[in-house]
Amino acid sequence: MQQGPLEVCILAAGVGSRMRSNKAKVLQTLAGRPLLRHLLDAVNTLSPSKIHVIIGEGGDEVRQRFDGEPGVNWVEQAERLGTGHAVMQAAPHIADDARVLVLLGDAPLVKPSTIKQLVLTPADLVVLSVIMDDPSGYGRIVRDGAQVTQIVEHLDATDEQRAIQEINTGVMAISAGGLKQWLGMLNDDNAQSEYLLTDIVEHANTTGASVQTHIADNPIEVTGVNTFVQLSALERAMQKEQASELMNQGVHIIDPDRFDLRGQLNAGKGVTIDINVIIEGEVTLGDNVKIGPNVVIKDAVIASGAEIKANSVVEEAQVGNNCSVGPFARLRPGAELSDDVHIGNFVEVKKSKIGKGSKANHLAYLGDTTIGEEVNVGAGTITCNYDGVNKHETHIGDGAFIGSNSSLVAPVSIGAGSTVGAGSTITSDVESQVLAVGRGKQRSIANWQRPTKKS
Ligand code: UD1
Ligand code: CA
Repeated sequence: MQQGPLEVCILAAGVGSRMRSNKAKVLQTLAGRPLLRHLLDAVNTLSPSKIHVIIGEGGDEVRQRFDGEPGVNWVEQAERLGTGHAVMQAAPHIADDARVLVLLGDAPLVKPSTIKQLVLTPADLVVLSVIMDDPSGYGRIVRDGAQVTQIVEHLDATDEQRAIQEINTGVMAISAGGLKQWLGMLNDDNAQSEYLLTDIVEHANTTGASVQTHIADNPIEVTGVNTFVQLSALERAMQKEQASELMNQGVHIIDPDRFDLRGQLNAGKGVTIDINVIIEGEVTLGDNVKIGPNVVIKDAVIASGAEIKANSVVEEAQVGNNCSVGPFARLRPGAELSDDVHIGNFVEVKKSKIGKGSKANHLAYLGDTTIGEEVNVGAGTITCNYDGVNKHETHIGDGAFIGSNSSLVAPVSIGAGSTVGAGSTITSDVESQVLAVGRGKQRSIANWQRPTKKS
């Protein structure tokens, strides 16, 4: 066998026709990332010299999504004439002394360790196979001892061959010289009228090449995604695996069946995650962080001892040590909470810095705001940051107290230690250590008569 540079071919010209979709199947997502992303991450661990991605219908969108992806050579397969035909399109770009790893775009969970073992198996052609309880639909591995003599597609197989439980996963490692020779021998004389890559096995045998299998031990790794039912099964399998990894690192996930990680979670010690939590992007949780049920956290850093209570949404935000957020709170991009901050129910914070020990416990909107330490923001307070055209800033000094149902019309600042009377509309700056009241003065009208109904 040859042991030259490694080149990878990913067959990705298919659309999800069984998903009633005309989007390229490799753009369907698993754990928040496109199928192609999973495959590229896996093959990049082998440092291949080139990655040929064969695209067809919907391919422009794939190219756009993976624009600038290092090492990728995009290959068009204008007509979809079979897996063998797909590899033929890449063949002219492949060095003659290469070792070629072929992967199917619709089987995204293959493990780096598995493909590493595959390419190291010493044979001219090595097929990744797996034993299936129900092999129907797959290509079957026909052997003569260790030598694989044929892969026969389900549609072309005899009843006797259909009883074979060892199936072709579609992943293969092949010496480039042999591959090019055997591709030239393919025809479309089969039940599908396609150029089947699997037929190279028979041709390899006629040229005296060694053809072996590497048997994968986990069918989930090589399961193809043809339907949303299969995609959802893979999603759960992957989620359970990620949850197990986190639990083994000491994260207490209360129910791994109701946990979803769509990205990267870095967690400290003593972290507890309640049910139905979704973690997206890159999220860091410090020691002893508690995440309540039904919380969504995306691209955020939550420092030690903080608690995110039920039904809160946190996105592109930073939460300091020992903060309490929620229930039903929303931290939007640019929310930065220092230590010991309390953000309570129905409070929305956007692009705002909130100082140590400050509180907004109920029903408030804080946008484009800088708040000092130990500030109390009363229920119903709104920073009116938008005049319909531009956004303006609000500044609130240390120790200020904003009475309930106040509107702070930005740009405006409230001095340290000042109090804003409840129900005020504050339109000009408030100096330090004063009481600002901006509301109609209350009066009582004696002997006032309610209107009566006209007869
Ligand atoms: C293929 C294998 C089968 C194996 C199964 C494992 C062949 C002939 N059959 O069958 O032995 O058991 O995978 O899941 O290889 N593609 C292209 N261009 C084409 C045709 C296909 O890029 O012209 C891509 C598809 O997008 C897909 C992959 O190749 O990602 C596999 O094609 P698919 O039609 O799904 O093959 P299967 O019938 O699943
Ligand atoms: Ca398939």
